[in-house]
Amino acid sequence: MAKVFDVVVIGAGPGGYIAAIRAAQLGLQVACIDDWSTAAGKPAPGGTCTNVGCIPSKALLQSSENYEHAGHSFADHGIQVKGLSLDLAKMLARKDRVVRQNNEGILYLFKKNKVMFFHGRGSFAGKNADSWQIKVSGQSAETLVAKHVIVATGSSPRPLPGAAFDNKLILDNAGALTIPEVPKKLGVIGAGVIGLEMGSVWRRLGSEVTVLEALPAFLGAVDEQVAQEAFKVFKKQGLAIHTGVKVGKVTVKKDVTVDYTDSAGKAQSLTVDKLIVSIGRMPNTGGLSAETAGLKLDEGGRIAVDDDCRTNLPNVWAVGDVVRGPMLAHKAEEEGVAVAQRIAGQHGHVDFNTVPWVIYTSPEIAWVGKTEQQLKAEGVAFRTGTFPFMANGRARALGDTTGFVKFIADEKTDRVLGVHIIGPMASELIAEAVVAMEFGAAAEDIALICHAHPSLSEAMKEAALAVDNRTLNL
Ligand code: FAD
Ligand code: NAI
Repeated sequence: MAKVFDVVVIGAGPGGYIAAIRAAQLGLQVACIDDWSTAAGKPAPGGTCTNVGCIPSKALLQSSENYEHAGHSFADHGIQVKGLSLDLAKMLARKDRVVRQNNEGILYLFKKNKVMFFHGRGSFAGKNADSWQIKVSGQSAETLVAKHVIVATGSSPRPLPGAAFDNKLILDNAGALTIPEVPKKLGVIGAGVIGLEMGSVWRRLGSEVTVLEALPAFLGAVDEQVAQEAFKVFKKQGLAIHTGVKVGKVTVKKDVTVDYTDSAGKAQSLTVDKLIVSIGRMPNTGGLSAETAGLKLDEGGRIAVDDDCRTNLPNVWAVGDVVRGPMLAHKAEEEGVAVAQRIAGQHGHVDFNTVPWVIYTSPEIAWVGKTEQQLKAEGVAFRTGTFPFMANGRARALGDTTGFVKFIADEKTDRVLGVHIIGPMASELIAEAVVAMEFGAAAEDIALICHAHPSLSEAMKEAALAVDNRTLNL
């Protein structure tokens, strides 16, 4: 007899596995289906984020940063490193271990919360009066019956037309995380989040990295002041970034040659040992039998949902990268929790105005809320306050004084509208701004709060004070 569940979740990425855990915590009978496997064919829940995204990229960013520090900045601290060498195989194996720990952690959490896990592909197989039949194919083949279905199937890398991924010479995000030898010359198409993070990893390990970006503006979605500072710093680090290019033919031989037109309209070509293509991602809607079930897609090919993540089908929900909104793990998680709570008859809410963004380069870039350019376009009157890490004692002690914190507050009410950081530990500092914005704080509220000394967080307080021209340490 088919197993019956209150909720069947398809996909165990951050959206799906968190939704499954939360639904189980609320007393519902939950199953979660995921098809990701290790090289040995074992289940590897966690989705893109755990297997070929957030987690392995951050492991390599950390390892490569340690290597760069040992080679370049330790000497400044009076630490001499002789005979420094790179064991790339070990570095990659460590990254794989970190991934595996996370896969195992999720399997443990499923067990602990009594979520039944099925390793295989899930698809819609039919509908009864008030329930859905979900077919699992693969290792655990069977048909489940579900009162509610949450689709959390994530996204896949977008290929460049005429240059299919082979993950030998033309690499997607998975290939970019497993290059077995440091390429002498590395090309990157797309100066977005993946391009900058993975470009940084391989530059630190010794590659000569060239990034080709189609848009004329560098990091167009980021506050202009931050984007300009980032461009200057990355250039100084040795990342060659060309914006406003039109990528043409890609020729694969022993190496890869990319023909392109530069921003001045001049024909150029770039020959590299490996090419990372990071030009965005596409929602995973194939193989779900979504058309047969009548699941509606939006104009971007994502599953169409309302503000509460409801699809057009009764009791079918969708969360994460497969629906509208930023493709971020924490956004997927928040939607997963909100949907589980709604199914259980509770309240669920995701505030898109306070979803933080982080680019884990060095310096890190983090922001929440509106940029100056957005507010100008909306005609909102605002004041800004900026404080450089150069004037922060902890940053000086760390030996990492690049960048600044910038607060943007409403001119009349002083309410914080956006916070933009480029600098050390921006990924951690932004949390204070998220809390402030979530609670509707004014810049003055942050300015009045006691921040520990010496800490990088004092730059947050000082930038908030700067909105009212009252910085103390500048
Ligand atoms: P996914 O994580 O993609 O998970 C979907 C899962 O469903 C996968 O396991 C997939 O195999 C499975 N699946 C698909 N179809 C089926 C089916 N029919 N049956 C069964 N299983 C199925 N975000 C951040 O917030 N911070 C970061 O630092 C960050 N770094 C990233 C680095 C890289 C290189 C990449 C590529 C992405 C990064 N992201 C980061 C984005 C983040 O990974 C995604 O936003 C997040 O994984 C989306 O979660 P999800 O649950 O929607 O989908
Ligand atoms: P992206 O959207 O961040 O950047 C893609 C870039 O490629 C853009 O700048 C775009 O203008 C450019 N581009 C598009 N077509 C092009 C072409 N034909 N030639 C040259 N340039 C072209 O996408 P990316 O880097 O692939 O990452 C996908 C998503 O994954 C991100 O948007 C983000 O949501 C998520 N991610 C998040 C991370 C984080 O939170 N730290 C890290 C990595 C990925």
